[in-house]
Amino acid sequence: MPNRSIALVGLSGTGKSTIGRLLATDCGLTLLDTDALIEVRAGQPIPAIFSQLGEEAFRDIETAVLQAAFEGGKPHILATGGGIILRSKNRALLREKAFVVWLDAPTESLVARLEAHDQQRPLLGKNMAMRLDALRAMRAPFYAEVAHVQVETHGRTVAIITAEIRTALHKHEVP
Ligand code: S3P
Repeated sequence: MPNRSIALVGLSGTGKSTIGRLLATDCGLTLLDTDALIEVRAGQPIPAIFSQLGEEAFRDIETAVLQAAFEGGKPHILATGGGIILRSKNRALLREKAFVVWLDAPTESLVARLEAHDQQRPLLGKNMAMRLDALRAMRAPFYAEVAHVQVETHGRTVAIITAEIRTALHKHEVP
């Protein structure tokens, strides 16, 4: 069992929740999903938080749940929302408290995954590919800054990806 939390970051559709679930089972750790924790804390679904309270309020709650996730020092698997890396405070917290994995895949692969699920993403709108490309261009430097390792998910099974993450963590822990 790792003695450090593992945080999965990356754009929507990179498989953070799916990979997080298997990683949690394999590592014997609890999965914390920041989006789900935000919805519990706000008492409403994410699209409603964005439309009624606005993105800044959403980001405030996101920072609060991230801080809470690291309280107590117990390691967890963290599946995060794609924009968690926008605030420098969140990046510093993630980098200090977790082994951070940047999951990535080409935009077409993200769109295919997102279209297969019927979940609303307020920041993506109708032209998902264009929007994801713009978010990728803006956010890639932040993902790169915060991540200890970058893992490609396109065309690879969840089991292979999970094994790669565990190997990378092991190398990181035992230099
Ligand atoms: C967001 C991604 C979403 C969710 C919110 C904002 C973003 O999470 O946190 O809609 O800014 O990219 P997923 O990455 O799980 O889609």
